[in-house]
Amino acid sequence: MADINIAVVPVAGLGTRLLPATKSQPKEMLPVGRKPVVQYVVEELTRVGMQRLLFITGPGKSSIENHFDLNGELIQMLRETGKEDLLAEFEYERAPIQYFYTRQRQLLGLGHAVLCAQEFVGDQPFVVALGDSIIGLYAKSKVVRRMIECFQENAAAAVIAFEEVPLAEVNNYGVAKPRSTGDVFQVDDVVEKPSPSEAPSRLAIAARYVFAPTIFEALKHTRSGKGGEIQLTDAIRLLIQGGARVYGMKLPNGERRFDIGNFDTYFRAFCEFALADEKYGPSLRTYVEQLLNAHHP
Ligand code: UTP
Repeated sequence: MADINIAVVPVAGLGTRLLPATKSQPKEMLPVGRKPVVQYVVEELTRVGMQRLLFITGPGKSSIENHFDLNGELIQMLRETGKEDLLAEFEYERAPIQYFYTRQRQLLGLGHAVLCAQEFVGDQPFVVALGDSIIGLYAKSKVVRRMIECFQENAAAAVIAFEEVPLAEVNNYGVAKPRSTGDVFQVDDVVEKPSPSEAPSRLAIAARYVFAPTIFEALKHTRSGKGGEIQLTDAIRLLIQGGARVYGMKLPNGERRFDIGNFDTYFRAFCEFALADEKYGPSLRTYVEQLLNAHHP
């Protein structure tokens, strides 16, 4: 079976929950530690063998395209001014991956954003990775590779990454009804943002998917829900109702999802990445400890 090497990265959303930080810059370009979020996403996808990457972009997102351009002038300037030590920071520009961009011309939700990839993807399976979520500290996760293997072994229509979240937080996510326990399971249903009392589990969709091209037909038949948005979760539900096999894979221990979509989780992600930074982490830790002690003697 041919390997899967196309990844679709939706980055068109407005990021209203992060205003005013996102008024004139994409949330996907916010730094987490030293790098913008979307760079971690691309590094993760490169590591798991993706070769073509389609960004679904929108208004105000051109800095994402600029970030992945080769910037010869900047490199030359660093050489000329004796700042060679910074050149290593540009290795990501040379990743063996080809970039493509298309616009989601109307912001009709994540499902609609994925549908915008149909012409590019054609009749083959592909990965979807949300541009505002990092998997694992410094994006070291290889979960997408294992999801691709699961997809191929089971002739699945979709494999979805899940993370166990506290019951009080299930109403922020698409939540699985798993057929069995364990780290890999068949999914009997997915419910978008259920209340804790209605949630079929605490397994929240964690920003990574592998899809057969049948998802496009499901998306076309998905009615828009709240705010006129076409939900990807509803299309997955249609797939399951049509008899397709959809699998879930839990993120392994130590590979959390860092969601940059709201300030609460963004601040946590930034703290964790900065504290784990080889160069700046130790002194930051001392500083934070002093700060906390000063406030709570
Ligand atoms: P969110 O659900 O966080 O929506 O998107 P949002 O619009 O970006 O943010 P808020 O709710 O206004 O704060 C999850 C992912 O889907 C993309 C986003 O860019 C993000 O990577 N997305 C969302 C699109 O590409 N298009 C859309 O119409 C909606």
